[in-house]
Amino acid sequence: MNKQAASCTERMQFIGNKALVKALKLAAGVMPIRDPQLLVGTDATTRLAEIIARRSISKALIVTTAGIVKRGQADELIRELELQGITPVIFDGIVPDPTFEVVNAGLDLLRQEACDSIVAFGGGSAMDAAKVMAIAAANNRAPEKLVGFFKGLRQPLPLYAVPTTAGTGSEATIASVISDNRTHKKCFVIDSRSVPLAAALDPRLMEKLSPSLTAATGMDALTHAIEAYISTISTAKTDRYAEEAIRLIFEYLPRACKNGSDLEAREAMSIASYKAGRAFTQASVGYVHAISHQLGAHYGTPHGLGNAIVLPEILEFSQSAASESLARLALALELGDANEPEAALAEKFVDHVRKLNRKLGIPAAVAELAEEDIAGIARGALKEALLNYPVPRHMGQVECEALLRGLLHTRSSAAAQVAEKPAYTGA
Ligand SMILES: [Fe+2]
Repeated sequence: MNKQAASCTERMQFIGNKALVKALKLAAGVMPIRDPQLLVGTDATTRLAEIIARRSISKALIVTTAGIVKRGQADELIRELELQGITPVIFDGIVPDPTFEVVNAGLDLLRQEACDSIVAFGGGSAMDAAKVMAIAAANNRAPEKLVGFFKGLRQPLPLYAVPTTAGTGSEATIASVISDNRTHKKCFVIDSRSVPLAAALDPRLMEKLSPSLTAATGMDALTHAIEAYISTISTAKTDRYAEEAIRLIFEYLPRACKNGSDLEAREAMSIASYKAGRAFTQASVGYVHAISHQLGAHYGTPHGLGNAIVLPEILEFSQSAASESLARLALALELGDANEPEAALAEKFVDHVRKLNRKLGIPAAVAELAEEDIAGIARGALKEALLNYPVPRHMGQVECEALLRGLLHTRSSAAAQVAEKPAYTGA
């Protein structure tokens, strides 16, 4: 396709995207999303067991990973449930990017043991799989048949969450991502009723996370909040959640990375992750996620790390269209004063994101990115964004490829050399 034809197609696609954004904006305004009851602190697990017991529940399926069980991280919850007269049944088959086979295995155990509730105990994978199990069990439908919007007629089984990382915000979101082994595609199950009834945010569960995992997951949360904030369907409510999350992350993420046992920082990050989740589940994400998903698919780049690398580049690209939002964020973080020009304030906020990356030791380049993959990555990312994301500034193939070229290791090595001394290495 020649350049003129390509830009004509892009213009037509953009018109299609504008119609989608209008529909999303309408849905965001009318779709009720429940806030889970939030239990925060070192006694959160105990309080969660008390809350579960109030619903006359007798058997709870704990959806988790083998590693969590081995490390004894779920022991306190198991003990507290038993004290409340609830029988815990452990399903420890959760793996990263859970497949329908994993969800079905959990469902088999749930049915076999006649569990009447589910507690997701883990990161985004455990929570996403548990949400789909809860809808499938209540509606007696195969998980594969739940892909799409609101495919279950009945309310999901009572569902609770105990996140063990601070990043995905899955305890607040209405979407679950399940991988299809046959098509090698990620499928979305979207249902606002799948938000857990309550979530326990216990900072002690995050104490042992490595600095690199803490940084990557924390930057995922920051990306959720910022992309939601600059989204064209954001509302006053989502802006409030996003702004609070952003403020907390800039203050506490470096502390949590430096000292994993800083429980105040861990607690603040778990709240930030929840708030960012609450913001993006309604206002959506954007190009950062679209590109990061492609980097994950091509090279296995961890989601949070990919987001962190791409985030400042997309903000720079979006600056002209999102300067008002970015300037507001600069003022919220006291990076300047209200008399400064909007563009200068927006610039300060983008610089602040770059500085945070450097402080956390996050590289400016994607080590595995190869020139020959760039066109395909750009195509995949733009397609995902066009179909899903209400971004402030539309990006074309040429612009996306140029942005990706800036992330090539050789191109970015000079920038990386001037990085500040990181708080740790190896993100
Ligand atoms: Fe994310």
